[in-house]
Order: sequence, then structure tokens, then C-alpha cells
Amino acid sequence: MRKPVIAGNWKMYKTVSESVDTALALKPLVANANHCDVIIAPVFTALKTVADRLEGSNVHVAGQNCSTEVEEGAHTGEVTAAMLRDVGASHVIVGHSERRQFYFETDSMVNKKCQAAITAGLIAILCVGESLEQREQGTAERVVSGQLTGGLSGLTVSDLDRIIVAYEPVWAIGTGRTATPEQAQEMHAFIRRVFADGYTKTAAGAMRILYGGSVKPDNIAGLMSQTDIDGALVGGASLKADSFAQIVNFGRT
Ligand code: 13P
Repeated sequence: MRKPVIAGNWKMYKTVSESVDTALALKPLVANANHCDVIIAPVFTALKTVADRLEGSNVHVAGQNCSTEVEEGAHTGEVTAAMLRDVGASHVIVGHSERRQFYFETDSMVNKKCQAAITAGLIAILCVGESLEQREQGTAERVVSGQLTGGLSGLTVSDLDRIIVAYEPVWAIGTGRTATPEQAQEMHAFIRRVFADGYTKTAAGAMRILYGGSVKPDNIAGLMSQTDIDGALVGGASLKADSFAQIVNFGRT
């Protein structure tokens, strides 16, 4: 039985006080959400304050990125996975398409970040997903399987306990154009097959695969009704406590 995960990626939004306000507004709204893991990913500058204010609650905190480097050192502007852990993060988003697209992250860098996250005791949320052009050219599966095998290179079956996959088709991010539940299901089932082929059927069956891309309170139920969709990575709709809480509490009154 895979426990669903609903994660909010706040991207480059909110000051520290705005982050705290949203986190504190969210806390009571999701306090009874034991059916899933709830995660929010504020900007680095707000991580510690938000994590401190959420301590003892069921809301976990994630970094949005970490360094490829495991050890501290002369790497201006970078933050290690261990430093994220130190301020109270339990998860880190790795290989988001915005980082691949605008900051030129390669699969090999994403791989190092996954390894660094595991070494630090964090859970890595590994993002994969094709562009519109790649989908239209019919190469979506090849792109996604390449991102998976590249991103997870060298990881053992037991390392997979510390990996969550987020399938985020680039054409659905921030566009209001969500993948249909059937389109998402098709790719999620494919991703699970990649795990079955590369690792074991058991590992594939246990892997939590989230969908991301224009997830909103009114489309979460359809997505979650699919067999291989185990949760969501939410951007825009996670910035407001009430809409994110509605996504967390989908199907409940
Ligand atoms: P939106 O939900 O705003 O489309 O963003 C999705 C995303 O990129 C989450 O990481």
C-alpha cells in the first residue's frame, strides 16, 4: 500500500513572514490528513523559520534544490543537502524542469543531487517530464526513462526508499493545461515499468509517483482515481493555504 504524498512547491515566492503566515494557516486545515504525507517547499531563506513553526505537526518541509556537493566547501551560492536537514527539512526537490531548463541541470547533476540527498538522510523528490515538442515528436517515454535512469544511476534498491518520483510534463506546468488523468496514468504506469525492469517488481510497486502540472482542487480527484498516481506536486495552487488544503483533503468532507 503506497501512502499518497501531496507536496507544495512554492518556487520563488513569499518572504519569510508570508511563508510563515501560509504555513500556519495550512497547519490546522490539514491536521487530520493522516491519509497522506503533506509537504511544503518554501524558499531557502524561509526554510528554518517555517520548519521551526511547523515542528510537531504533520506538515513536512522540503528544500527546492540542493548542491551536487556532499561536503561543505568553496561553492558560492550553493547549499548542501546536510544543511537543509540541519534547518529541519526532511525532503528535497531535485531536477525540477525549471532547473533543467533555466539553470542547465543535466541528468548527471541530478544524479549527484539524489545521492547527496540520500547521504544526508533526506528523501529526494526526483522530477522528470517531457516538453511539448518531445511529446508531439513521440519521444516522451524515451525522455522520461532517460531522466529516470540518468537521475538514479548507481542507486541500489534499498536507496529507492528515499526516492519519490514526480512526473511533471513541462507543457502542463503553470499553463492551466493539466494532463488528463488518462495521459498521466499512462506515463505513471510506464515509469513503474522502468523501475520493474531496472530494479525489482517489489521496488516498482512501492515507488510513489506524483503527478505535477496545473493540479487544482477541481482536478485532483480525477488524477488520484488513477491506479498509478500516488499524489501530486503542486505549484500555483499550493501558494494559498485553503486551495492547497482542499487538494490535500480531496474527497473528504
Ligand atoms: P503548477 O501547479 O503551477 O503548474 O506547477 C507545477 C510544478 O512545477 C510543481 O513543481
